Amino acid sequence: MESMEQGPVEFHLEPHGPIYAKGKLKIIDSKGNVQELEEAYFCRCGRSQNKPFCDGSHQR
Ligand code: FES
Repeated sequence: MESMEQGPVEFHLEPHGPIYAKGKLKIIDSKGNVQELEEAYFCRCGRSQNKPFCDGSHQR
């Protein structure tokens, strides 16, 4: 996989919800799997079944 260009990343904290990140994101899990995204919502409530991403569980 070719590496993405670097650039600024913005983070926005959603009230009582996830962290929204926008930019060139490279996410590496504990097994070394790499995901390259341009935006993502990261869970900060601990309830998501799809960590590190928000799955909407914070609303329940
Ligand atoms: S912030 Fe949305 S599931 Fe945790």
